[in-house]
Amino acid sequence: MAKAKIQFPRGFLWGTATASHQVEGNNKNNNWHAWEEAGKTADKSGLACDWWGGRWREDLDRALETGQNAHRFSVEWSRIQPEKNRWDEGALNRYRDILRGLRERNMTAMVTLHHFTNPLWLENPSTDSGGGWENDETPQLFADFVRKTVSALKEYTNLWVTINEPNVYVYSAYVEGAFPPGKQDLNIAFKVMVNLVRGHALAYKAIHEIQREARVGMAHHYRAMSPKNTKSPLDHWVVKAQSSVFNDLFPNAARNGKVKFLWKKVEIPEAADTQDFMGVNYYSRDQVAFNLKMAGELFGKHSFPKDADLSETGFIANEPEGLHEAIRWANGFGKDIIVTENGVEDAADEMRPRYLAEHIAQLWRAVNFSWRVKGYFHWSLVDNFEWERGWTQRFGLWELDIETQKRKKRKSAELYEEICKTNSLSSKMVEKYCPEAMEKIFPD
Ligand code: BGC
Repeated sequence: MAKAKIQFPRGFLWGTATASHQVEGNNKNNNWHAWEEAGKTADKSGLACDWWGGRWREDLDRALETGQNAHRFSVEWSRIQPEKNRWDEGALNRYRDILRGLRERNMTAMVTLHHFTNPLWLENPSTDSGGGWENDETPQLFADFVRKTVSALKEYTNLWVTINEPNVYVYSAYVEGAFPPGKQDLNIAFKVMVNLVRGHALAYKAIHEIQREARVGMAHHYRAMSPKNTKSPLDHWVVKAQSSVFNDLFPNAARNGKVKFLWKKVEIPEAADTQDFMGVNYYSRDQVAFNLKMAGELFGKHSFPKDADLSETGFIANEPEGLHEAIRWANGFGKDIIVTENGVEDAADEMRPRYLAEHIAQLWRAVNFSWRVKGYFHWSLVDNFEWERGWTQRFGLWELDIETQKRKKRKSAELYEEICKTNSLSSKMVEKYCPEAMEKIFPD
């Protein structure tokens, strides 16, 4: 076939995303460490990718050498504020080092202020008022932490994510129970949602007070959903109901200051218009069937289609059109859009090249619709600690040997390098790295 190429706009951000607990190692003062020690995870995070020991330098060199011009990482609240009444300036200095490292490499930095982990003092307070985000004091405590952190780091970035995937956090920690504190209680889940919205709103205001040019958003996990049986009105209903809670609740609250969940409604006027951009994390699409027995999951049973292109551990179905849908959805909020995560677990790197190429093609379709997409961060740079799934899932462009800390470049890293360096995806690249995707991406 003739050669074809899809080209991205000048200045497009190309990067990878990471999170403190997943890469730093020796993070011992947060709720996830306790969760690991209690045997609730497949493995322990241990040294992780040893970023706290300084290996962020070599990994950012890898990112730079392979054409990435941006990186998203998170700061660890429990390091910066190890006790309620103590700040660790040394920890802030380490994050300043990383940010300086990004500046030296001429890479744009995006900093996430909360990525799933809470300091132990916050998660297990000495009072019995409930821990973590169940506690009504937490939004203000988060805002104090944000104020301290942003004041210390503002010289190096103006791109902030307040909270990563508040919907996944609430679902996993308070509905499914796989994240600490492992509860399954919709009433508590609602309380946590309200406090997360309050925390975000206070953080948004605090950041803008400190830095006028700040760009602040959340990273929203968008799960595409479709009815399992397209002829079933109940399946259609449950998709709508679930999507309005899982996908829409947080961005709506940050738009209009209202948290609506089932029959409950809370007004948080100070949360209205508190996003400068929409961060979108997209991984997969589910089929949903109405199921009366699943009240705790709001009556929806999720699965992947029988003929789905499934990832190594069956965690993700390769559904690239879902990314296009996610961006169309994000565009409805009228703000700039940044894809803050997208990726797949694949130690063998058999599926990732086509997953990557097919998602980049959908990203380009969105850009081509003139939707305001400004960048793409792949999850992730190097294999890292996958929460309750431990080291059983490998999302890195680079493979990590956790015993020796050696990194090995996967084929997908080479493909991503060509994409980043040319700001494009070409039929030649697809032919070289994932010929099986040719027909889908560049049909004759
Ligand atoms: C999270 C990441 C995680 C990734 C893959 C996202 O929901 O933000 O921390 O590693 O999914 O599971």
